[in-house]
Amino acid sequence: MSHAKAWSCVLFAIVMVAHADGTSVPEEGRVTAPVNLQVLPKTLSGASIRKLMKSYSRELGVSCSHCHVEDPQTQTMDYALDDKPNKQTARLMIAMLNDINDKHLAQLGRDPRYSVPVTCGSCHLGQSTPPEYEARE
Ligand code: HEC
Ligand code: HEC
Repeated sequence: MSHAKAWSCVLFAIVMVAHADGTSVPEEGRVTAPVNLQVLPKTLSGASIRKLMKSYSRELGVSCSHCHVEDPQTQTMDYALDDKPNKQTARLMIAMLNDINDKHLAQLGRDPRYSVPVTCGSCHLGQSTPPEYEARE
């Protein structure tokens, strides 16, 4: 068996497992575990990624294509590609958010049940670029 063939068997097996436990099946039918996570935990299931991405989109008031591109050959979204600069910026933003919450706000020592975490929406307020705040006189 060629290397490529062997690999496609392995991948097929992984896809079947993902299907069976039901957790990594995105609702639009794309059955793949994430392959290119550089900031988010690599253990996230496809379903939790999908949920997180939906909240990013809502908090910025954008659609998936703000950060993701289609594969020109298959003309379907390929979320693993890094061709959009916004995706790279978003990685910086995710890392920044983790620092704000885990390094800085954590020092307040508040009970996590009552503390308010900073989210993308805290700054972006539903816009791709955060609006400038103008204090009232
Ligand atoms: C503001 C930018 C942004 C928006 C909007 C966005 N994403 Fe993402 N997405 C990212 C970033 C950044 C990553 C990579 C995270 C990392 O490297 O840890 C990612 C990763 C993913 C992955 C994992 C790809 C892989 O195999 O590594 C999927 C699937 C995905 N996004 C789906 C979506 C869907 C579906 C939407 C729309 C509902 C969406 N994204 C909207 C920024 C975005
Ligand atoms: C602490 C405030 C803050 C938080 C939290 C934050 N952002 Fe941002 N974000 C900004 C600012 C400010 C800019 C504009 C920077 C500039 O002017 O170049 C920006 C710009 C961006 C851009 C580029 C927009 C463009 O049109 O160039 C993306 C994409 C983005 N943020 C995604 C995210 C995502 C995704 C999250 C949550 C994981 C997030 N941001 C959380 C403040 C924030």
